[in-house]
Amino acid sequence: MEELVLVKPKKKDAQAIMQFRQEFLDAGEKSMPGTNGLVDFDRFEEWWKFIKAYENPQTVPVKGHVPSFEFLLKRKSDGKILGMLQIRTTLTQYLLQFGGHFGGCVRPSERNKGYSAVMIKLGVKKAKRMGINKVLITCKKENLSSAKSIQKAGGILQNEVDFEDTKIQRFWI
Ligand SMILES: CC(C)(COP(=O)(O)OP(=O)(O)OC[C@H]1O[C@@H](n2cnc3c(N)ncnc32)[C@H](O)[C@@H]1OP(=O)(O)O)[C@@H](O)C(=O)NCCC(=O)NCCS
Repeated sequence: MEELVLVKPKKKDAQAIMQFRQEFLDAGEKSMPGTNGLVDFDRFEEWWKFIKAYENPQTVPVKGHVPSFEFLLKRKSDGKILGMLQIRTTLTQYLLQFGGHFGGCVRPSERNKGYSAVMIKLGVKKAKRMGINKVLITCKKENLSSAKSIQKAGGILQNEVDFEDTKIQRFWI
């Protein structure tokens, strides 16, 4: 496995982040978990302001949401963005049941190479430094690749809970 790093996005990543986004759109994917809705932002600047607002408890833009931080998974050899991970700093009742501390995605062209599992492992280290010692990660039961990557990263299934017309699996690391 090549060396991977998990880093905070910088403004100089703007073009690469918008290309990352475009790949999801080209693949017909309408959601990008763990990106604070990047898929809905045509302009990098607006997304940037949105994620920065999420970092400060005083400026979190959506009522009832907790502060969150975005990270990029990059391959060290060529600097390519492979995935994006969001760390939510605390758990509301909703996050404790359904959402968890982490959200994430890997770009379609780089899936099934073990990158998500590594991204989660690196994310757990970041979370520890943020004072989160037990990380909750959830996924829909039918999202087999997500469940597998969480387990590969050390996630232990606690239980399954009903969510809309499906079940959500709750894993702890
Ligand atoms: C979920 C996601 C992050 C996984 O990323 P990834 O880098 O491909 O994950 P990994 O390579 O670490 O692990 C995937 C595992 O699932 C397996 N897998 C893939 N498709 C599968 C399927 N249909 N059925 C069973 N297993 C499957 C892979 O073989 C791999 O396991 P292995 O290493 O034992 O072979 C990625 O698919 C993604 O971004 N999906 C869209 C967004 C999303 O669903 N995010 C998670 C929300 S909870």
